[in-house]
Amino acid sequence: MRVLFLVSLSQLIVLTHSSPSIQSLCHDDESSALLQFKNSFSIKRSESSDPLACPKVASWTLEGQNSDCCAWDGVICDEDTGHVIELDLSSCNLYGSINSNSSLFHLVHLQRLNLAFNNFNYSQIPSQVGNLSRLTYLNLSSSMLSGEIPVTLMNLTKLTFLGLSSNNFQGPIPSSIVHLYNLEVLDVYNNNLNGTMELCMFLNMKSLGMLDLSHNELSLLIDETCTNATLPKFYGLDLAACFDGQVPIPLPWTNLAILDLSSNQLEGSLPIPPSSTLRYNIPNNKLSGRISQWICNMTSIQMLDLSNNSLSGSLPQCLNKFGDSLLVLNLQKNKLEGSIPQTWAKGTQLRMINFSENKFQNRLPTSLANLMMLEAIDLGVNQFNDSFPYWFGNLPNLMVLCIRSNKFNGPIVIPNAEYKFPNLRVLDLSNNSFSGKLPLEIFQNWKYRDFENESPLTYIHVKANFTIPKGSWNYHLSYDYNYSMAITNKGMNMVYQRVQELFRGIDMSSNRFEREIPESIGDLKVLHLFNVSNNFLSSNIPFSLGNLAGLESLDISLNRLSGEIPQQLTQLNFLQYFNVSYNNLTGHIPSGQQFNTFQNNSFEGNSGLCGSPLTNNCNNFDTLLPPASISENSEDSDSPFEFGWKIVVIGYGFGTVVGVIIGHVVIARNPDWLRKTFGMKQLGRRHRN
Ligand SMILES: *[C@@H]1O[C@H](CO)[C@@H](O)[C@H](O)[C@H]1NC(C)=O
Ligand SMILES: *[C@@H]1O[C@H](CO)[C@@H](O)[C@H](O)[C@H]1NC(C)=O
Ligand SMILES: *[C@@H]1O[C@H](CO)[C@@H](O)[C@H](O)[C@H]1NC(C)=O
Ligand SMILES: *[C@@H]1O[C@H](CO)[C@@H](O)[C@H](O)[C@H]1NC(C)=O
Ligand SMILES: *[C@@H]1O[C@H](CO)[C@@H](O)[C@H](O)[C@H]1NC(C)=O
Ligand SMILES: *[C@@H]1O[C@H](CO)[C@@H](O)[C@H](O)[C@H]1NC(C)=O
Ligand SMILES: *[C@@H]1O[C@H](CO)[C@@H](O)[C@H](O)[C@H]1NC(C)=O
Ligand SMILES: *[C@@H]1O[C@H](CO)[C@@H](O)[C@H](O)[C@H]1NC(C)=O
Ligand SMILES: *[C@@H]1O[C@H](CO)[C@@H](O)[C@H](O)[C@H]1NC(C)=O
Ligand SMILES: *[C@@H]1O[C@H](CO)[C@@H](O)[C@H](O)[C@H]1NC(C)=O
Ligand SMILES: *[C@@H]1O[C@H](CO)[C@@H](O)[C@H](O)[C@H]1NC(C)=O
Ligand SMILES: *[C@@H]1O[C@H](CO)[C@@H](O)[C@H](O)[C@H]1NC(C)=O
Repeated sequence: MRVLFLVSLSQLIVLTHSSPSIQSLCHDDESSALLQFKNSFSIKRSESSDPLACPKVASWTLEGQNSDCCAWDGVICDEDTGHVIELDLSSCNLYGSINSNSSLFHLVHLQRLNLAFNNFNYSQIPSQVGNLSRLTYLNLSSSMLSGEIPVTLMNLTKLTFLGLSSNNFQGPIPSSIVHLYNLEVLDVYNNNLNGTMELCMFLNMKSLGMLDLSHNELSLLIDETCTNATLPKFYGLDLAACFDGQVPIPLPWTNLAILDLSSNQLEGSLPIPPSSTLRYNIPNNKLSGRISQWICNMTSIQMLDLSNNSLSGSLPQCLNKFGDSLLVLNLQKNKLEGSIPQTWAKGTQLRMINFSENKFQNRLPTSLANLMMLEAIDLGVNQFNDSFPYWFGNLPNLMVLCIRSNKFNGPIVIPNAEYKFPNLRVLDLSNNSFSGKLPLEIFQNWKYRDFENESPLTYIHVKANFTIPKGSWNYHLSYDYNYSMAITNKGMNMVYQRVQELFRGIDMSSNRFEREIPESIGDLKVLHLFNVSNNFLSSNIPFSLGNLAGLESLDISLNRLSGEIPQQLTQLNFLQYFNVSYNNLTGHIPSGQQFNTFQNNSFEGNSGLCGSPLTNNCNNFDTLLPPASISENSEDSDSPFEFGWKIVVIGYGFGTVVGVIIGHVVIARNPDWLRKTFGMKQLGRRHRN
């Protein structure tokens, strides 16, 4: 099991404005246009991804007291003229196409139009959208639109906000878009737009503050003649997966708050954005060299992701002094080495640290226990050499602790009852040299806590909220970092992008744990995944495992367990992966329920086991040969590592690969976790001309 962290983005917007008085009566042509527009769709409850979606248009009618369209849900009229100036039908379950003759285009007084989160059946934006020349705000995000972005958008010269994210738009971004002089936000995130564009094309869009071109097939060229004097004063640039090559260093935008340069083949040293930066993401590039101490100049930083580059050297010691604002620190998969910074102060906000897949060494600084807000820490795949960091046990919010594949060693001792790990859900100690008995006391808390109230819809995540003041507007952005997890089972590596808060997993495989699996395992009733494979565990399989009613994956293979497989295990109705291979088990393999689904590789390497799915009949033991003594071939017969490795190779030989689907972990293949839009909030009044 590997614990990983993936960024996932989601939006939060509160659009507040002082409510206009509703004295004015609606114009007849506009109410009939609205009704016609409504009638051109069917309302399907399932068509909006927002669980709170409400079919606003259902109440629209010309009958009785509700006939004034200015009072209809989602409609706002100008208090003086009575014209419809705002239409917000976002998340309204609208299903159907928008045609060029749609009555929507008769609503020419519209200033704000929000049709986000509907299903327009892959129709195109008709060029007639150019009719709505008073629009300042157009939000069509996540609405199943396709085709090209119409050039007539250039007719909308008052537009300040254009949100087209998460649709299926194709082709280029029309160069005429630069005539939308007032545009402040251009968000085309997550479409299929292609073609080459130059950053310089935005030269004259002096108002443009937020540009999100990410997750398209666009190529962006940064011409060096575009200097900071002429480019817009960006405060947010999301150019993930948009261009190749170099970025200007230092970055010329002194007001930058959001900078995302992920997945761009960037080479050279790490660009350091200005101190104003709140979120800096530059993972999945080819940056090299050291992390300069100037990085600590970003005193407001909340999210820092430098993962999956080739950064080397040791970490600047100042890293731990990052403003009190840092929430997420992701340095995963680089070539960083040496000790991690020694002093971590109390009072920081850090929720998530991902230092995995580097070459960090030495002991862990116990001052990490000062990070009282910490929810997840991944130190896996490094060269830390230490005893078990029991002192993480006093962090009240710690949910995920991963120290897999290091040189941690010795028996696990919790010296004091105050180290309770009160919130721990996922513990991965695999591939180390821990010894002694299995430290189940770490989870004693699971016995007493009531987890019944936890929703299966909540995923372990960090939510960061940014507010960027922008003249009369405040932009609110909110980003979710979801923890994700990889589970490795004999050759199958499965990545789960979201982990339910409900999920409980313990991986202590490939260590030197010995003695029995304690009966008290049966107290951990909330457990979903238990892997203690490849240790020196002996004695019998405890009956009490049958109490773990939610168990989905149980791997106790490659140990020295003896006796029979308890019949009680057939009670485990959710068990999808089961492995007791290469032990010293005897007797009849239980049958029934889930046991009828397991293959012979779940049981092989136990000379005394018989019955289906193994081929040896329980009446005919004589034909069985004892297994070759596995540790004999090993140079160091004490090393379970060697032992395990050889067996796994044998395992491959049988050619069967078993995958687990953990019901409590979601494989998110759809771009749901990529969803992101911008929110904005106006200060003061609107709706007056
Ligand atoms: C650490 O974070 C990065 C980027 O968010 C993620 O891609 C990676 O999967 C995480 N951890 C591991 C162990 O891979
Ligand atoms: C959706 O589009 C398909 C294919 O163009 C069409 O057959 C179907 O009638 C459309 N559905 C609606 C409700 O417009
Ligand atoms: C709009 O055009 C479509 C064909 O594009 C047609 O089926 C529909 O009847 C027209 N609607 C109106 C109100 O004219
Ligand atoms: C554009 O607006 C005018 C009114 O200004 C209206 O007469 C015309 O029908 C509209 N065009 C479309 C395609 O709706
Ligand atoms: C766009 O504006 C031009 C003039 O600026 C006008 O001729 C054209 O009809 C407009 N297009 C639409 C669809 O409104
Ligand atoms: C954009 O994609 C379309 C098809 O999806 C293709 O025909 C066109 O050549 C592409 N344009 C560029 C500049 O790559
Ligand atoms: C950008 O502006 C800064 C001052 O704000 C200045 O020091 C720097 O030289 C400028 N860079 C370019 C390329 O003009
Ligand atoms: C790491 O970055 C490289 C590009 O430098 C990319 O090809 C690879 O997919 C990335 N790995 C992950 C796990 O995102
Ligand atoms: C970092 O801040 C120091 C002063 O606090 C300043 O001298 C230095 O130029 C800054 N470096 C960068 C790259 O911004
Ligand atoms: C962001 O806002 C949400 C509520 O909207 C809150 O639950 C969360 O704690 C906030 N995040 C931070 C880091 O303050
Ligand atoms: C296997 O178990 C039997 C008892 O069932 C015991 O006598 C024997 O020593 C065990 N073999 C190993 C290799 O542990
Ligand atoms: C676009 O609309 C959706 C749905 O109402 C909303 O979540 C998103 O924040 C909107 N974007 C802006 C900038 O208002």
